[in-house]
Amino acid sequence: MAKKTINVALIGQKFMGRAHSNAWGQVGRFFDLPRKVNLHTIAARDKAELEPFAEKWGWGQASGDWRELCENPEIDLVDVGTPNDVHAEQALALLEAGKHVACEKPLAGTLEDARAMRDAARKRKQLSTFVWFNYRRCPAMALMHQLVQEGKIGEVVHVRGHYLQSWGGPETPLVWRFQKKRAGSGAHGDLNAHIVDMARFVTGDEVAEINGSIAKTWIKERPHPDGKGKGRSDVDDQVVFLATFKQGATASFEASRLAHGHHNRNFLEINGTKGSVAFDFEHMNVLRFLDATEDPRIQGWRRIMCTSAGNHPYAENWWPDAHVLGYEHGFVNMAADIVRCLSGKRPVVPLPDFADAYETQRVLEAALISAKERCAIKMSEVK
Ligand SMILES: NC(=O)c1ccc[n+]([C@@H]2O[C@H](COP(=O)([O-])OP(=O)(O)OC[C@H]3O[C@@H](n4cnc5c(N)ncnc54)[C@H](O)[C@@H]3O)[C@@H](O)[C@H]2O)c1
Repeated sequence: MAKKTINVALIGQKFMGRAHSNAWGQVGRFFDLPRKVNLHTIAARDKAELEPFAEKWGWGQASGDWRELCENPEIDLVDVGTPNDVHAEQALALLEAGKHVACEKPLAGTLEDARAMRDAARKRKQLSTFVWFNYRRCPAMALMHQLVQEGKIGEVVHVRGHYLQSWGGPETPLVWRFQKKRAGSGAHGDLNAHIVDMARFVTGDEVAEINGSIAKTWIKERPHPDGKGKGRSDVDDQVVFLATFKQGATASFEASRLAHGHHNRNFLEINGTKGSVAFDFEHMNVLRFLDATEDPRIQGWRRIMCTSAGNHPYAENWWPDAHVLGYEHGFVNMAADIVRCLSGKRPVVPLPDFADAYETQRVLEAALISAKERCAIKMSEVK
């Protein structure tokens, strides 16, 4: 019997537009899914590029007006890959129109927008929402979650995350990511969002308090992308903050776009009473694990290559052992889990929805308040 089709539409055709188009195109080839995925419509604003984009990535139709997606009864799921300031407007209209929504991270540019999205999703229980915290679906990160949840490192004591990049120097043009009204924040919402989500995902715990925070803007103006003069860059270039989790673990988080020597160093280490685990995206196929209960003479960091089919999450869908995966595979794994969820099945590891991503957004907001007020902020103060 033919599988029921799920018609997907995507808004946005640049960086995430390409990553998501690839994911929706590849997922049916590598995963045996309950439903067939159809790349129904791509929507974005860059009209001249839309038709060739649709042709190249396999989208059936192209639209210069995302609102048409709301009106099309054929479309089941809309994937939002637009800048942070439009997530809420689009997600609210799509939910209102009865579409499932998969939105890029951070959930929104402001906590107010994020709250409206959470509340709209809550009201429509028959619809599903998803947020593209894609690193959860790197096999090594998914394994880290499983090992910590199984108690392999005991009680969590330290959480240490940093996400460092170096592309945000003074010559980098004033794209939307450097404008507060469009992005909400800079390195913070872009990069700390991921490591806060990863820490919550791996520990299963929630932040109780932000103990202190520094947000710094080094570069106050940048060249306009059209080369005509300069404009104000008003987001943080780096944010560092300390936090305490509800179960007592202490945490440090650091995000920067000015950390020379680091291109995409998305790093999380967790130390527990019985051992430690560490993930570094620049070596994304590897999870490091130390078992502190072993004979001390042979204790040391293990380097686990997370590509063993049947043993490591998602590995059986890809290549033979140690034929390594890359950035795009996390998105394909996520597309597979979204289709599973929409078919009544369980994802391989938990998928964040709007309510879950709202909790990450609250932590980000509390860290910004802490930096501004120069004081500790209890999470109960940030609703
Ligand atoms: N998950 C990740 O690792 C990851 C990585 C990069 C970006 N992101 C997130 O993805 C989102 C998009 O980022 P990007 O890097 O792809 O940006 P981008 O600038 O490369 O692309 C943005 C796209 O959105 C379209 N767009 C902008 N405003 C629109 C509107 N009002 N209506 C319709 N289309 C509109 C543009 O035409 C463009 O195609 C952001 O929320 C960003 O934080 C996530």
